[in-house]
Amino acid sequence: KKQVLTGIKPTGRVHLGNYIGAIKPALELAGNELYQPAYFVADYHGLTKIHDKEEMNQLSRGIAATWLALGLDPEKAIFYRQSDVPEIFELSWILACFSPKGLMNRAHAYKSIVEENLHTGREADTGVNMGVFTYPILMAADILLFQTEIVPVGKDQIQHVEIARDIAESFNHTYGETFTLPQYVIEEETAVLPGLDGRKMSKSYNNTIPLFEEPKKLQKLINKIKTDSSPPEAPKDPDDSIIFSLYKEFATELQTEEMRNRFLTGIGWGEAKKELFEVMNVHLEEPRERYNELMASPDKLNEMLLHGAEKARKKTRPFLEEVKMKIGIIHS
Ligand code: TYM
Repeated sequence: KKQVLTGIKPTGRVHLGNYIGAIKPALELAGNELYQPAYFVADYHGLTKIHDKEEMNQLSRGIAATWLALGLDPEKAIFYRQSDVPEIFELSWILACFSPKGLMNRAHAYKSIVEENLHTGREADTGVNMGVFTYPILMAADILLFQTEIVPVGKDQIQHVEIARDIAESFNHTYGETFTLPQYVIEEETAVLPGLDGRKMSKSYNNTIPLFEEPKKLQKLINKIKTDSSPPEAPKDPDDSIIFSLYKEFATELQTEEMRNRFLTGIGWGEAKKELFEVMNVHLEEPRERYNELMASPDKLNEMLLHGAEKARKKTRPFLEEVKMKIGIIHS
């Protein structure tokens, strides 16, 4: 079976961008017998930003509950918290020793903080902790430790997967074929889902629609999606509308076709938003209920995650030993 792996970091509530860009495609792969999924809560990646005990705990549980509420089968998948698998951090150090600093300097997330700092007259590295700087190395460890072949992600993570390949190649070059080179898979159409303001939907832009938002608030958020001022009767381009992009993720094919036609012949934005809310709410009602139940039973959640970590470590421990033998860290 091909190893598929992806993670979500608990820096905010799971939003529609996470769902459409990564979780939905990952769950589709999980339903296919040809793949072995490993899906996880990237809590130590979250620690680069979240420095509050309660928040960390709550957000991590939220991510775990989301996967399960959407139907991930923890018996079939390896489903775990990153922090429960210490091999990842050991490998992360090993990989750090094969990661040129310049490669980290070029990582988008770090680079954009530096650019913003310089732009506003601050020192380049203001607000950058070493976790932020070495973020891609930990992510490479996540991926490479599982000998991952496929990484379903949104567009913003492509560079990270490429960095993981670079690091793997560098190691393989020195010690011979060891790490599998991972490949990202992207849903072209929704690789970057826009948020309320039209920029990429992102926790850091504060423009997200949380996946399991309560219906009333969900409706309010949908009403906030930025639209142009064309009148209701004006024809609208469905392929240039966030509302339509979201609609088709939740609607049936038939509904989607009908909505496409209504856009082309003219539909009021208010009406389109109402239809979007309806279709989302129908689709998300049950998972939302399951999510709320799971959030109310932290012990059950914890048990599942610990069980998942055991499964993960069965796979990762022997492989890490192999890696250590290759570099000459041999204790017997
Ligand atoms: P994170 O937590 O920021 O986002 C989780 C997933 O959601 C995708 N995504 C989007 N896709 C489309 N449109 C958007 N607006 C949008 N916003 C977010 C992201 O691309 C991602 O796939 N570094 C990762 C977490 C991680 C990871 C890993 C992923 C840690 N280790 C190993 C894969 C493999 C991150 O910050 O994702």
